[in-house]
Amino acid sequence: MFAGSVGAVLTARMDLSRLREAYEMAGLEEANLADDPVAQFQQWFAEVEAAGYWEPNAMVLSTVAADGSPSARNVLLKRVDERGFVLFTNYTSDKASELEATHRAALTFSWTELRRQVRVVGDAQRLTDEESDRYWTTRPRGSQLGAWSSDQSAVVPDRATLERSFAEQQERWAGREVERPDHWGGYRVRPDTVEFWQGRPDRLHDRLRYRREQDGWVVERRAP
Ligand SMILES: Cc1cc2nc3c(=O)[nH]c(=O)nc-3n(C[C@H](O)[C@H](O)[C@H](O)COP(=O)(O)O)c2cc1C
Repeated sequence: MFAGSVGAVLTARMDLSRLREAYEMAGLEEANLADDPVAQFQQWFAEVEAAGYWEPNAMVLSTVAADGSPSARNVLLKRVDERGFVLFTNYTSDKASELEATHRAALTFSWTELRRQVRVVGDAQRLTDEESDRYWTTRPRGSQLGAWSSDQSAVVPDRATLERSFAEQQERWAGREVERPDHWGGYRVRPDTVEFWQGRPDRLHDRLRYRREQDGWVVERRAP
């Protein structure tokens, strides 16, 4: 399908310079930061959840292919602790190939209603089978069947093909637990840096970045 003419009309009207927001929220001060970025993240996340966000755990996962091409897409954060940020996906997907090639990832959380952003950069490694199994069992059956039905990132002829594949999997697993496919599981991003951005008036935003050093975290303020 090609929507060229619609695209041309939209492009002509797409001057967004009139959009201008004042950033009047409370600031982020070094003195109030937690000692480690995961604790700080958890504190912000609790505030984001309380603000009633839809999918507050959605984050943009950016990866780089072996040839240097970047790519980015939303995924859901499913766990965060001192070891890092955990997400789940299909190991045959584009993102997985890129993570396997470079083991590097960036995560971006955009909580714009609160004038906040968090950026994580770090090393990405697969979870163990046991860890992926543990999360798999908590997934709704429909999501489990979906993981078996979709060869994520492959080109498919049409939607009917996907629906047929889903129906086949329903039949295959009828009356029993759906096992985790080998091609589905998690990654953990162990952060090297975590930057917290709080929007402030006059574009003098607060940017405080934790950087991992041998014996702990260093916090640096960066120009906005
Ligand atoms: C809000 C949101 C959450 C998503 N969560 C996930 C997720 O947790 N895991 C996943 O594999 N894809 C998720 N997706 C789909 C991905 O954005 C993407 O389309 C898919 O993973 C294929 O990406 P790839 O071809 O770059 O590997 C989500 C999409 C949105 C919009």
